[in-house]
Amino acid sequence: MQSETEGIMRVVSFGTNTTYAALGQGTWRMGVDLNLFTHEVKMLQEGIQHNLRVIDTAAMYADGGAERVVGQAIQSCRDDVFVVTKVWPTHANYEGVITSLKNSLDRLNTAYVDLFLLHWPSKQYPLQETMRAMVTVYEKGWAKSLGVSNFNVELLRQAQQFLGNIPLVANQVEYSLTARAAEHSVIPYCQDHNITVMAYSPIKHLNALDPHGPQRLLLRELASKYHSTEHVIALAWVIRQPQVIAIPKASQREHLLTNLSALTLDLSPDDEKRLDTLFPPSSHDLTIKWL
Ligand SMILES: NC(=O)c1ccc[n+]([C@@H]2O[C@H](COP(=O)([O-])OP(=O)(O)OC[C@H]3O[C@@H](n4cnc5c(N)ncnc54)[C@H](OP(=O)(O)O)[C@@H]3O)[C@@H](O)[C@H]2O)c1
Repeated sequence: MQSETEGIMRVVSFGTNTTYAALGQGTWRMGVDLNLFTHEVKMLQEGIQHNLRVIDTAAMYADGGAERVVGQAIQSCRDDVFVVTKVWPTHANYEGVITSLKNSLDRLNTAYVDLFLLHWPSKQYPLQETMRAMVTVYEKGWAKSLGVSNFNVELLRQAQQFLGNIPLVANQVEYSLTARAAEHSVIPYCQDHNITVMAYSPIKHLNALDPHGPQRLLLRELASKYHSTEHVIALAWVIRQPQVIAIPKASQREHLLTNLSALTLDLSPDDEKRLDTLFPPSSHDLTIKWL
């Protein structure tokens, strides 16, 4: 496996020596329209062929529909991909977590997921109970590793404590040029504790930028300088640091193929500084939502 990422500039790992390209594939809004099922399966498979082997999905996406797309996409290459799914916080009681994962495994048509996450902190169920269930599915071999999503440092510490000797290997959070709150304390904590940061929605807010505003103009200038696109510049910026993987969703082939170049695009320190000035760090830490 290690050799498959040789030559790729940016890689991450999830608590083992196996490395993966620091770009994965998101699946939010896949599986919604059944007419697009075959196309979405093909796009994921094409991404896998291009070494985007970390595939992020969730029980909640399209009510399990996204997991069905992933399940179809991975049938001929199950051992080569790293499948991530999540349990929704309203099912985060002991039995609920186990049932949710079993249903996910059915839809994914696989015996295990590589990483299982609590999707958001739950306002209904104690974290200790959720983590007890996570330990059970880990010990049964249904989840090869465990993590969380949308957690701040305080909650990460608690989750780690409840998991005991089992490592918490990932925290999936929103992170992009326009959403930098995770930099305050979450990313540094994760980097110090061998927790991989999975940056979600890494590019989706770019389209909302004023097309004539200074941020957009800078992205356009850098895209031209690096013979690339604004979205690739934004992705390269997200994965410029260790232990951060971006998981953009691309259902258009052109998007999928364009994004690949972020893995090898090196922004100069000066250009990083310019981006930092026009997309300033967030004034607040990651805000916790309890769902
Ligand atoms: N843990 C959580 O709470 C959470 C929350 C949100 C998302 N996520 C995960 O993170 C993944 C990514 O986040 P996201 O889907 O919200 O946003 P995103 O990946 O930042 O943006 C997706 C949008 O960007 C477009 N796009 C992709 N590549 C492009 C390119 N090169 N040029 C122009 N447009 C491009 C896609 O279009 P096309 O699809 O038409 O190609 C899609 O409309 C999700 O799919 C999901 O797996 C997790």
